[in-house]
Amino acid sequence: MQLDVFTLVPHAFAWLTEQRPVSTVLGGELDLRLFSYRDTTPLRNGQVDDEPYGGGAGMVLRVDVVAAALEAAYGATPPRRVIALSPQGRQLTQAIVEELANEEHVTLLSARFEGFDERIVEHLATDALSIGPYVLSNGDLPAMVLLDAIARRLPGALSEGSGEVESFSDELSGGLEYPHYTRPAEFRGWHVPDVLLSGDHARIEGWRKEHVR
Ligand SMILES: C[S@@+](CC[C@H](N)C(=O)[O-])C[C@H]1O[C@@H](n2cnc3c(N)ncnc32)[C@H](O)[C@@H]1O
Repeated sequence: MQLDVFTLVPHAFAWLTEQRPVSTVLGGELDLRLFSYRDTTPLRNGQVDDEPYGGGAGMVLRVDVVAAALEAAYGATPPRRVIALSPQGRQLTQAIVEELANEEHVTLLSARFEGFDERIVEHLATDALSIGPYVLSNGDLPAMVLLDAIARRLPGALSEGSGEVESFSDELSGGLEYPHYTRPAEFRGWHVPDVLLSGDHARIEGWRKEHVR
């Protein structure tokens, strides 16, 4: 899939692109493109935002700036999914991640300060997503959250099977994954459940089913 991110700090994504699973799928199943609003702004001196009409604190990302960035990238044909990252958006779930991972093209719009001129969300975006009911300083961390969550659902991102039985998956009926343990079997008197040491795969399977939360 092609994932395009429009941001003011494309370099902020460098760290994530070096981490698995993003690095694993990059250049293969994932074509990531990072665009800076400043590169295409029609305003002077790289200006991208402005004071809010009606007054108040903070700066607002301008609609003409975002329109110019999208036009420079896509011409007259905007992509099917253009997602504005916003605390006012639909809250992100694993189901939305699965849906997006099946798209051929997803565009993410990040803002900062007071956020988007509302006309961006209404007319240029097709959707708005929030990563949770709290406010971050900009949309770049939310874009990275989406990038990572989508990347791990792309073919070949994870070792065989490890992405299938996970919290929120259909395999666990949308529930939370059972607990995991590793060596040592006893530490400070804290014991690993006996069944997991038994080698009896049917019992282990049963225990895990019982412990889906
Ligand atoms: C400081 S926030 C703007 C907050 C806005 N004034 C409000 O009260 O809702 C700046 C930008 O960060 C991003 N952002 C902050 N929190 C977010 C969240 N929970 N989910 C998605 N994006 C978020 C959005 O792009 C937002 O426009």
